[in-house]
Amino acid sequence: MVKTQDKWWKHAVVYQIYPRSFQDSNGDGIGDLKGIMERLPYLEKLGIDAIWLSPVCRSPQDDNGYDISDYQDIDPMFGTLEDMEELIRKAKDHGIRIIMDLVLNHTSDEHRWFLEAKKSKDNPYHDYYVWRDGTEDTPPNEMRASFGGSAWEWVPELGQYYFHQFSVKQPDLNWENEKVRREIYDMILWWMDKGVGGFRLDVIDQIAKEPDLEITNNGPMLHAFIREMSRETFQKGDLITVGEAWGADVERAKLYSNPNGNEFSMVFQFEHIGLDQQEGKEKWDLAPLPFVKLKKVLAKWQTGLYGRGWNSLFWDNHDLPRIVSRWGNDREYRVESAKMLAALLHGMQGTPYIYQGEELGMTNVKFADISHYKDIESVNMYKERIEAGYDKDDVMKSIYARGRDNARTPMQWDGSANAGFTAGTPWIEVNPNYTTINAREELEDQDSVFYFYQKLIRLRKEYPVFVDGKFELLMPEDEKIFAYTRTNGDSRMLVCANFSGEQAECPLLAEWVDAEVLIHNYPGEWSKKLRPYEAVILIQS
Ligand code: GLC
Ligand code: CA
Repeated sequence: MVKTQDKWWKHAVVYQIYPRSFQDSNGDGIGDLKGIMERLPYLEKLGIDAIWLSPVCRSPQDDNGYDISDYQDIDPMFGTLEDMEELIRKAKDHGIRIIMDLVLNHTSDEHRWFLEAKKSKDNPYHDYYVWRDGTEDTPPNEMRASFGGSAWEWVPELGQYYFHQFSVKQPDLNWENEKVRREIYDMILWWMDKGVGGFRLDVIDQIAKEPDLEITNNGPMLHAFIREMSRETFQKGDLITVGEAWGADVERAKLYSNPNGNEFSMVFQFEHIGLDQQEGKEKWDLAPLPFVKLKKVLAKWQTGLYGRGWNSLFWDNHDLPRIVSRWGNDREYRVESAKMLAALLHGMQGTPYIYQGEELGMTNVKFADISHYKDIESVNMYKERIEAGYDKDDVMKSIYARGRDNARTPMQWDGSANAGFTAGTPWIEVNPNYTTINAREELEDQDSVFYFYQKLIRLRKEYPVFVDGKFELLMPEDEKIFAYTRTNGDSRMLVCANFSGEQAECPLLAEWVDAEVLIHNYPGEWSKKLRPYEAVILIQS
């Protein structure tokens, strides 16, 4: 039997806050640090251990803070450095650690380093970024940026291009320059000194890019850079570190999250998230979810990392649509399907992440047209595709299904104006369903999605099998049932869910009639005929 693992983050549940959409405290329509402080009791009640805070550092907000112009200051929109220190302290009083979002692949083009870098080729900061000579109409190669257009931006005064994997306002840092790495490590140590509980590392698998070879992620130096950073910084504290790695497969994830702890605690990988799109195309090119494949992919990660790494468990984040709208049913079975998805995820091995509002079953949003959308990715895509002759309704359909603003509408606190998020005009409109879907209502209803999440979090703390149990997928080919066991010594747990809107038979439940019910998303008894989106977690010991 595996003993409950020693690292605190193996028992932890993380809650992600997208600060500009969480709680506004001063009526300017933008969420802020003081707003987060007001809501700490709510988060303590939910039972989470840590908050991953999307970037709050100083930024021109071209990509909502993922374009940092000063790593060691807070953007005035969110508050001050003192507010941040207060948040770290107050959160601690509520038993919650703060995880900072580190954006180290690129800075803002308004960062002091970049302003210097573009002054001249022999400026000491020039080599902090990735430059190539060229002529105005011929960039070094055909590489494209994630948010559209060429990845190369011409700077006429220098007769050079700089490289940017994201927007033109997000120039890539040159990690091959040791001075850059030193500056970064000093900055990380400075935040560690302030008492943060860990870091989430934005697009970390892209730092070792080799643009001449058209390599963006997983460049040859990647793990060497990460190990150096980990040794120089993270390993000096008891932190949770999570790398965002779109390009990770199981083998690579074993390196990232190896039990020696010389890289990260875990990575966010997205294999399950990319399944419902047309192969070889973009996320906007929709396809139905291949359910059997989803099960197999998740099972592969569960068994692949067992004892050899550690998984992050998530359905949602600030870049993804809302899971209940995506793979559940946000109309007649919103509550049931939100709970079913939660049970499936929280029953697995790894550290669960809850994205703000997920614990309320918040849904996607459909604004009338593109003018209501704020996200640079959606806005640029819309422009590109309309110019390329796509049908406007089809483009909007893609945004409704996959746009990042689905996750970025304000947190729905109550049924008052603007969902209690702001006394002013919110920076992005509130989802009109806030009058029925909101925290106040859910806190008064013992059967709400909120209390289901609260219970799942408690179960993880009470039953070591949630942390340590070995995963086995059952009925792998079944088109409706998602079932698996977790086994640790004599303790055996079954997670069984109907992933569909129709009744589905789960014969193996017959063997579990005497088991104890840990959680169930329908009132009353369960039977092996599962109702739409019915889910149950049972334990035998
Ligand atoms: C990550 C972030 C995303 C951001 C991008 C560039 O993918 O999650 O929000 O736009 O990196 O920093
Ligand atoms: Ca504000």
